[in-house]
Amino acid sequence: MAQPIISPSILSADFAKLGDEVRAIDQAGADWIHIDVMDGHFVPNLTIGPGVVKALRPHTSKPFDVHLMISPVDNFLDAFAEAGADIITVHPEAGPHLHRTIQHVKSLGKKAGVSLNPATPAKALDYVLEDIDLVLVMSVNPGFGGQKFISSQLRKIEAIAKRVAKENLDVTIEVDGGIDPETARQAVDAGATALVAGTAAFRGGPNHYAANIRALRGEG
Ligand code: DX5
Ligand code: ZN
Repeated sequence: MAQPIISPSILSADFAKLGDEVRAIDQAGADWIHIDVMDGHFVPNLTIGPGVVKALRPHTSKPFDVHLMISPVDNFLDAFAEAGADIITVHPEAGPHLHRTIQHVKSLGKKAGVSLNPATPAKALDYVLEDIDLVLVMSVNPGFGGQKFISSQLRKIEAIAKRVAKENLDVTIEVDGGIDPETARQAVDAGATALVAGTAAFRGGPNHYAANIRALRGEG
């Protein structure tokens, strides 16, 4: 299969030694570092804020792929940009003006992503697809790691990939939730170009990270 970008989610790392975990997953071959930010309101879980992102920044030079599951999101964009985010991804439901939010992210000099929940149609990308750098297709309902991949999202990935190709856009199609070597292959076959993996990337501890990442790339 085509070589996808691998973005391990530190949600599945050992939170008591996050700096070491980020270094280990970087050295194991991660392309990006996926950081899940949850507010206990937009999603039923609480994770980390800009202070932790800032503290992790010196531990790797890999891009920080920051997934904001917070609402309202706009007031936090500057803080995550300053903390060292490279890609900032928001959900359309997380604010009243998605287009304005995207412009705000881009005005900060960051790449802008839009994430679609499992029940959010690809149509939500109408009128913004040409303005963004990344679409994050959620293949689980956001909030927790370790959930089962929702196969209906493969159709959504296919539809978005077709549209990106037809319109000749430079948009990364990233898939998040329940990614393991098998679902990774399915997602890439459907048109995904980047994969988030928490459980499957961090499984077994640091000695396994390189093999975990190779398996997600389809390298066996
Ligand atoms: C879920 C998060 C995911 C999560 C993925 O809300 O957005 O990034 O960490 O975890 P796994 O790979 O375990 O499904
Ligand atoms: Zn995520």
